[in-house]
Amino acid sequence: MNIKIEKMTISDLKNIKDILETQFDDFWNYKILEEELNSSNSYYIVAKSENELENEIVGFAGIKVIIDQADIMNIVTKKTYRNQGIGTILLKNLILLSKNLQVSSISLEVNEENKTAFYLYKKLGFQQTGLRKNYYQNKNGRIMTLLL
Ligand SMILES: CC(C)(COP(=O)(O)OP(=O)(O)OC[C@H]1O[C@@H](n2cnc3c(N)ncnc32)[C@H](O)[C@@H]1OP(=O)(O)O)[C@@H](O)C(=O)NCCC(=O)NCCS
Repeated sequence: MNIKIEKMTISDLKNIKDILETQFDDFWNYKILEEELNSSNSYYIVAKSENELENEIVGFAGIKVIIDQADIMNIVTKKTYRNQGIGTILLKNLILLSKNLQVSSISLEVNEENKTAFYLYKKLGFQQTGLRKNYYQNKNGRIMTLLL
């Protein structure tokens, strides 16, 4: 599968509006993502499969930059395309984007039950730098950081 990475636009978001919460993830809804895309310190990318006649959106991810620190706000692969390397491509591109923005570190928070995401972040060099007790209802949140 050929994947291309582009800057995510409102039109991309509209394109997946009806399947956002069922086929991607229900963490964030359309309205919040729309606000994120319109925010001047947020940077979102989208992964599109080039195999279809029409480019299909198979994942997206975004960071928010405050001074020289980036926070990963979102990274999600469409459910039917998981475990095919798309999350890795998205995360590598967020790291590249952060470097280009002269950011010195990237952080995120992940539910300690989310083994796939934890594995992915570790694979690309993130280290656990903190733990937030009971952040996700009764689950802990790991804070992970990559120094650039
Ligand atoms: C996290 C997420 C983005 C990963 O996307 P993806 O496209 O499946 O990622 P990749 O295919 O590049 O990598 C997944 C890796 O995790 C591994 N993996 C899958 N399930 C796993 C598990 N239970 N435990 C450990 N590793 C696991 C895969 O084998 C793969 O490893 P590899 O790179 O060595 O082949 C995707 O699962 C997702 O959208 N989850 C819902 C949203 C989410 O939780 N986002 C993170 C919020 S912090």
